[in-house]
Amino acid sequence: TGYTALDYGFVNTASTKSEITYIDGEAGILRHRGYPIEQLAANSSFLEVAWLLIYGELPTADELGEFDEKIRRHTLLHEDLKRFFSALPSGAHPMAVLSSATSALSTYYSDQSDPDNPDHVDMNIIRLLAKLPVIAAYAHKTANGQAFLYPDNSLGYVENFLRLNFGVMSEPYEINPVMAKALERLLILHEDHEQNASTSTVRLVASTGANQFASVSAGIQALSGPLHGGANEAVLRMLGQIRDSGESVARFVERVKNKEDGVKLMGFGHRVYKNYDPRAKIVKASADEVLEALGVNDPLLDMAKELEEIALSDEYFQSRNLYPNVDFYTGVIYKAMGFPTSVFTVLFAIGRLPGWLAQWREQNLDRQGKIGRPQQLYVGPAERDYPAK
Ligand code: CMC
Repeated sequence: TGYTALDYGFVNTASTKSEITYIDGEAGILRHRGYPIEQLAANSSFLEVAWLLIYGELPTADELGEFDEKIRRHTLLHEDLKRFFSALPSGAHPMAVLSSATSALSTYYSDQSDPDNPDHVDMNIIRLLAKLPVIAAYAHKTANGQAFLYPDNSLGYVENFLRLNFGVMSEPYEINPVMAKALERLLILHEDHEQNASTSTVRLVASTGANQFASVSAGIQALSGPLHGGANEAVLRMLGQIRDSGESVARFVERVKNKEDGVKLMGFGHRVYKNYDPRAKIVKASADEVLEALGVNDPLLDMAKELEEIALSDEYFQSRNLYPNVDFYTGVIYKAMGFPTSVFTVLFAIGRLPGWLAQWREQNLDRQGKIGRPQQLYVGPAERDYPAK
């Protein structure tokens, strides 16, 4: 028709149809392929939900066993890739390391990454699920200046990840089952969230015919921003700053309401949820339990609860439907587990990977996939002549 609607931030524009994830933001409902997130978080495993998201149904025991086995067999990174990590500055942010290394990983598989070849697509789902946690742990080790460990493929997905992060050379690493279970639950909660900024990025890159590595590394970069996945890191920094400044929580909330220096309550608000984020409900409920089981007493958890209580009873937050989102309480738990703050968003990325892969595959299979190419409203100068010389 020639009519172009202006929709900043895509508030009113659906970019795709999808069968993967359903959200009702008014009611605070999240379902994957029809299954409520609460049931998946309580009963399922990370890889089972990954399969569900990617292939559409819960796997049979045989399918899940084979999927798990294949992933275990593909955890090793090419030895040359290790040199890549040592070339990066020691203070590099782990999210930048994760995204760059994902790009670098693609160079080993450029002749095995044809988006139109279903075998390549399935194989790269396995490769990315197997290798990204290893890269993530290496990013953590790089930040700590510690030696890398090789994956131990006798361990499950989350257990292997914990060992790679916290194990040290020449000492056996004892898995803490409480920690493994808690981390698995958190990862499940992050697996997919329909057309958020990073997933939309993955789909846009996919729409050009680019492969899964290209799309996922772009998705990681999109996730890194503080308004998206970077919020979990920002929440912990915010809590630390309030504590260190000696400012009261109530005074901080006043500054947020007055929009002083553009300060926001990080971990609050959501484009889609106008009610309590169902993921945040589960995270909050498990925070006390996990900290207690890990024997950690962190005053930042009490501070987070106080912030929530003050905010939820305040007209500013009530009238704007601002509730805690998934990032509000996760950081306190990651900290209790021993992860440094700069690694928090990397954990989000590892959690979100199955969603990105599922959405990439749906985009690619459907070929609803015209190339993504938004329009603009031009508001610059009309035609004018270059000055005569
Ligand atoms: N603190 C204070 N005010 C806020 C906040 C906040 N966290 N979030 C929104 N508002 C205000 C905003 O200033 C605006 O007020 P006004 O009408 O007076 O201008 C109103 O609420 C509507 O906000 P918006 O920015 O138009 O909403 P949006 O849908 O464009 O943004 C958001 C959603 C998540 C980017 C935003 O709520 C935010 O910046 N939150 C803090 C960052 C954060 O926690 N991000 C994680 C999101 S959930 C997981 C993920 O995606 O990674």
